[in-house]
Amino acid sequence: MFKFNFKNPTKIIFGEGCIKDIAAEIDKDHRILITYGGGSIKSNGVLDQVKAALNGYTLFEFSGIEPNPSYETLMKAVELVRLEKIDYLLAVGGGSVIDGTKFIAAAVDFQGEPWDLLAKQAAVKSSLPFGTVLTLPATGSEMNSGAVVTRRSLQTKLPFSSPLLYPQFSVLDPTTTYSLPARQISNGVVDAFVHTVEQYLTYPVNAKVQDRFAEGLLLTLIEEGPVALQDPQNYDVRANIMWCATLALNGLIGAGVPQDWATHMIGHELTAIYGLDHAQTLAVVLPSVLTVKKEQKAAKLLQYAERVWGIVNGEDGQRIDQAIEKTRLFFERMQVKTRLSDYGIKDDSIDKVVAQLEQHSMVRLGEKKNITPAVSREILKLSL
Ligand code: NZQ
Ligand code: ZN
Repeated sequence: MFKFNFKNPTKIIFGEGCIKDIAAEIDKDHRILITYGGGSIKSNGVLDQVKAALNGYTLFEFSGIEPNPSYETLMKAVELVRLEKIDYLLAVGGGSVIDGTKFIAAAVDFQGEPWDLLAKQAAVKSSLPFGTVLTLPATGSEMNSGAVVTRRSLQTKLPFSSPLLYPQFSVLDPTTTYSLPARQISNGVVDAFVHTVEQYLTYPVNAKVQDRFAEGLLLTLIEEGPVALQDPQNYDVRANIMWCATLALNGLIGAGVPQDWATHMIGHELTAIYGLDHAQTLAVVLPSVLTVKKEQKAAKLLQYAERVWGIVNGEDGQRIDQAIEKTRLFFERMQVKTRLSDYGIKDDSIDKVVAQLEQHSMVRLGEKKNITPAVSREILKLSL
């Protein structure tokens, strides 16, 4: 196991009816901006619950944070925060709202052009405090310090992170996810699955707890994901998926182990250029990354084949191929298509995606930093 530091300061408040508990987490004298997306929290009653919980507080609202939140929209919120001297943010929504809120928190007092937080990875020196009410289990943003922001005018989607960007608290009420459309249930399960894989399917460092924890998350997602689609109001299923998604990317399973993230970085380019949902990009790219890197990842792929998919017979190569195929079939079973051609993207698009990777310095990806643009091209070709 590698050396590591681990600290996660986010308080999790989990369970049905917990939104009412947020008042205990925020001082009465704060001026609070509630940030949200396109309105799902209005139609499912979550915004009403939040406002009821914060009755008597000074509240402002900022709506319209899009999926794959845009720098252009978020800067409008930054202006509002400065104008109204807002000093606390409450993100209510999915990963995009939470990521966008992290950007707002970091940008408000940033000296210079806030896009440098992404483009130049400028250090976050201060941030507004914030909490979250999660409505879409997927990204883990509710308990991590990272965010991904898109600058539409540049077709550029980039991640950034800082220890100052952990939420102070996150409310996880599984009943808020009942209103999710099937597409977002599927996206969430696939995203959490791929987060786990990015930190698990690399090479062995004898990190037994991290491995078994990761396998537990994968097995749970495989078991519960399809049930969530069939039986959307099943509380236990929603609760298990919600906690899985948080644990998949809160630092725990990634501590002390190598990490890949090539699938995510290639996927970000596909979203930035073609507008695919984040999870759709992952479902397309991951099977090809595993295939192209199967020799480097062989030991962990064999462990994955046996412990997650129960594949024990056949030659090593056959077992690995079967495990990769099972992974693809799982995404398809979750109703997420796994080929670029399913989304109308053809051979002639690959040059553009590779050029964007180069432009964003994504030229040494993967746990061994050996996914060069040439290898990314091979991965994309295999994904057609
Ligand atoms: O905007 P509203 O109206 O709220 O609708 C949203 C949105 O259209 C809807 N939705 C959310 N909760 C709902 C709901 N609809 C009905 N009922 C509910 N309870 O779902 C749609 C998608 O929401 P979004 O927040 O975009 O989805 P997700 O949570 O999958 O977030 C994706 C973003 O997170 C980034 C992705 O790149 C992408 O930009 N990621 C962030 C990470 C992180 N911070 O650690 C890691 C991830 O790898 C990921 O990259
Ligand atoms: Zn993701």
